Amino acid sequence: MATQNIYILAIESSCDDTAASIMLNGKILSNVVAGQSIHEAYGGVVPELASRAHQQNIVPVVDQALKRANVNKNQLHAIAFTRGPGLMGSLLVGTSFAKSLAYGLDIPIIDVNHMQAHILAHFIDEEGFEKPPFPFLAMTISGGHTQIVKVNSYFDMEVIGETIDDAVGEAFDKSGKLLGLGYPAGPEIDRRAKLGNPKAFKFTKPKVDGLNFSFSGLKTAILYFIQKETKSNPNFIENNLNDICASIQYTIIGILIDKLKLASKETGINHIAIGGGVSANSGIRQALKNGESKFGWKTYVPKFEFTTDNAAMIAIVGYLKFLEGDFATQSVTASSRLKI
Ligand code: KG4
Ligand code: ZN
Repeated sequence: MATQNIYILAIESSCDDTAASIMLNGKILSNVVAGQSIHEAYGGVVPELASRAHQQNIVPVVDQALKRANVNKNQLHAIAFTRGPGLMGSLLVGTSFAKSLAYGLDIPIIDVNHMQAHILAHFIDEEGFEKPPFPFLAMTISGGHTQIVKVNSYFDMEVIGETIDDAVGEAFDKSGKLLGLGYPAGPEIDRRAKLGNPKAFKFTKPKVDGLNFSFSGLKTAILYFIQKETKSNPNFIENNLNDICASIQYTIIGILIDKLKLASKETGINHIAIGGGVSANSGIRQALKNGESKFGWKTYVPKFEFTTDNAAMIAIVGYLKFLEGDFATQSVTASSRLKI
């Protein structure tokens, strides 16, 4: 594509991870993420603490990204940053940092939509990973997002379904909290689900029309179920934890797969790409694989480090926009509710 070598620095700070990445012509040279363990004690992300931690992390994280890539800041052609959506205080740290560094280096800035970036992560050049052909369906599932998007081209995307309340990752985390598991509970539920019976307990799936999702009812159903069962058996949770986890995971996967089936039927598209932290879930991966033989799908799961919040996905969008000459100006501001 490019006739010269283009180096992009990308910065992501929309939630609780401070991340920086260096990309050379679509390939990742470094991908640094500093998580924020401070939120674990609160069972969820505390916005004010997140923005303070970003302020502390951003300089060392960018410095590490440059060092690991063996790139000098004077070699950079542009700086891409997450403009939104996300937590305002967190976004402001990345946005201001990108603007000032680019101003100092006299290079352009590129604003990136975090939700587009989760999807375009599939276009990072990475050996062993196939890029989906247009049009395809993208399902982004994480602690903050649940969306199905029809992707017609890099920058022509249509949200065709999204959650009307909690995100799917929240459904895992909040259910886990009710069971006394630590935060985030998704990985632990996944691990225990492998040891349990997914049909041991039945939770009804929410009835939401069309391609939208709802997960808050499930959380309430689990709460009532646990309250009822522990009344007659105070040890109910510990005696049945693996089966409860397996049943919760089975229900959540059922909800996601039902909507994907409907989206595929309505659009006539069989290429399905997933992203976001919940795509690490072994049950959802297996269900997608099964969809290949059962429904004729072709499914795409990016390299794990590009699915959770990261700056490599911001870099690929930055690179694609750079090729189109699509730059932001110094007057650009963070936008917490930015839409696709
Ligand atoms: O993308 P991510 O790292 O951060 C954002 O929320 O944007 O996703 C984190 C979410 C958490 O809710 C976590 O519980 C969930 O992804 N998660 C999982 C698994 N690994 C992470 N959920 C289910 N199964 C997993 N293996
Ligand atoms: Zn995200």
